[in-house]
Amino acid sequence: MKVGCPKETVAGEQRVAMTPDSVRQIQKLGYDCVIQSGAGVAAGFDDAAYEEAGATVAKTAPSLWKQADIVVKVRGVTGAEKKNLRDGQTVISMFWPAQNPDLLDSFKAANTNAIAMDMVPRISRAQKMDVLSSMANIAGYRAVIESGNQFGRFFTGQITAAGKVPPAKVLVIGAGVAGLAAIGTATSLGAIVRAFDVRPEVAEQIESMGAEFLMLEFEEDGSGDGGYAKPASPEFIEKEMALFREQAPEIDIVITTALIPGRPAPKLWPAEMVGLMKPGSVVVDLAAEQGGNCDLTVADKIITSDNGVKIVGYTDFPSRMAAQSSTLYATNIRHMLDDLTPEKDGQITINMEDDVIRGATVVHAGDITFPPPAPKVQAIGKAPAAPKPVELTPEEKAAQEMEAHRKAGQRQFGMLVLGGLFMLLVGAYAPASFMQHFIVFALACFVGFQVIWNVSHALHTPLMAVTNAISGIIILGALLQVGSGNQIVMILAAISVLIATINIVGGFMVTRRMLAMFQKS
Ligand code: NAI
Repeated sequence: MKVGCPKETVAGEQRVAMTPDSVRQIQKLGYDCVIQSGAGVAAGFDDAAYEEAGATVAKTAPSLWKQADIVVKVRGVTGAEKKNLRDGQTVISMFWPAQNPDLLDSFKAANTNAIAMDMVPRISRAQKMDVLSSMANIAGYRAVIESGNQFGRFFTGQITAAGKVPPAKVLVIGAGVAGLAAIGTATSLGAIVRAFDVRPEVAEQIESMGAEFLMLEFEEDGSGDGGYAKPASPEFIEKEMALFREQAPEIDIVITTALIPGRPAPKLWPAEMVGLMKPGSVVVDLAAEQGGNCDLTVADKIITSDNGVKIVGYTDFPSRMAAQSSTLYATNIRHMLDDLTPEKDGQITINMEDDVIRGATVVHAGDITFPPPAPKVQAIGKAPAAPKPVELTPEEKAAQEMEAHRKAGQRQFGMLVLGGLFMLLVGAYAPASFMQHFIVFALACFVGFQVIWNVSHALHTPLMAVTNAISGIIILGALLQVGSGNQIVMILAAISVLIATINIVGGFMVTRRMLAMFQKS
C-alpha cells in the first residue's frame, strides 16, 4: 500500500504530516511513500530530501490523492479536498469530530475511513501518538518565547554597572501539557514563575520544575476523567479570581492555558484583571481558539489594552515552529501507522478491539463510529480513587500504636528464642573455634539487617556508598583467603569476591545514571 502526504491547504499552515525521517520509518512497515511536491518546504524539508529518503514526488494534489491508499494530513480535509476521498481509502489527520459532524458525513458518503489523531485516548501506551500533547508542548514553549518578544525586559534578574534589573514574574494558569512546558521554559530563562491549576495533583510537578504552586484554601478536587479537569464550581472560580486579583499588579507575564475539553474556555482573566496589571505587561492566551481565558483576547491577533498591556491571541503557535512540530507530528503519525500495521507487511488493519485505534477511528467501513466508548484502560495521571481513610481519635490512634508495638515485640522475642535454640543445636555438634566465628557472623547479620531495614528511602544513596565500603572490606578478606589450601574456603572466597564485585560495579553504575539525570547534555 501507498502512504501519501499532500500539501496543507489551510491558509498559513506550515506543518507537514510526513518528514524525510518518518518516510524512512514508514517504509520499514512495508509501505511505499509519496509526497506532494512542495508539501514540506514551509517546514524546511524540500522535495530532494524526501526523494533521498525513498519517497516519490507527486506533482499535484489530485494525483497524490489518487495514488495513496492511506493519506496523512495535519488540518483535516477542507471543502475542496473532499472530492478526492475514495472508497476504501483511509485518512489520518486531526479532525475535531465533535466540532465537524459534516466532515464525518462526507467520509461516510465516500466510504473512506477517518482516523482522528486528536481523538487518541490519553493512556500510557498511546503517549507516542498523542498529537495534542506534542503540539501543546510546543505551544507552551512558544508562548513564553512570544511573550519575551512582546515584553520589554529581561526574564532573568541582573545586577550590572548600569543598574539592577529585577527578574520578570510569570504566572501560568493551567498546568496541563502546555502549561508545564511554559513553566519549564520560563524558569529556564530565569523568571520567577508561579502557577495555578484546579487539579491539586499537579502541585508536585509544578514545584519540581522550580515554580511556585499558588495554593487555594478551598475543598474541591478539579480532577475529572481521562486525565483532564472537570468544570469548577462557581464558588471555586470566585476564590480563584480573588487569588488572581492579588497577583495581577505584581505579575509581568500571564500565560493562560486553562481548558476543559469540549467546553468553551473559562474566563479567568477578565478585563478588570488586565486593568490591574502594569503597562508593558503581556498576556498570552493559549485558549484563544476556544474563546480565550481572557475577555480581551482576539483570536490570531495581538491587541494592546487601554493601560498598555499586550494580549496575544495566536492560535497557530505549533505552526510558527513548523520544523519542530512537523517532526513530532510525523513521528506521532508513524507510531499510529505502526499500530495499524501489526504484520509490518504494508497492509493496514483497523482493529476496533484495540482501545487506541477504536478511540481514534471516527468513520469506519461506511459507519460513523464517533463518539467512542470510554477506554478500558486508566487515563494518565488518574489513579483509581482510593477509599477515604477513617479518621481516628487520638486515644484510638495511641491504642492502635501500642497494639502494633506489642505485636512487634512478641515477634522479635519469638525469633530470638528460635535463634538461641538454633545456636545451642549447632554448638552441641560444631567445634569451639567454629562457634566463635559463627556467633560473630550471626550477630553481624542481625545488626546489619536492623540498620539497613530502618534507613529511610531518602538516605539510600549514602547507604549505597557505605555498602560499597563494606563490599571493599569483603573483597580484601576474601582475597586473603582465596589462596587457602582448603577447597571449600577457596570456593567461598571466590564467591565472595564475585558477589562483592557485582555490588560495587552495580553501585557505581546506578550512581552514574542518577548523576546523568541531573546533567544537561
Ligand atoms: P490540558 O487539558 O492538558 O491542560 C489544561 C489545564 O487547564 C488542565 O491542567 C486543567 O486542570 C486546567 N484548568 C481547567 N480549568 C481551570 C481553571 N478554572 N483554573 C485553572 N486551571 C484550569 O490542555 P493542554 O494540552 O495543555 O492545552 C492547553 C490549551 O492550549 C488548550 O486550550 C489548547 O487548545 C491550547 N493550545 C493552543 C495552541 C495555540 O497555538 N494557541 C496550540 C496547542 C494547544
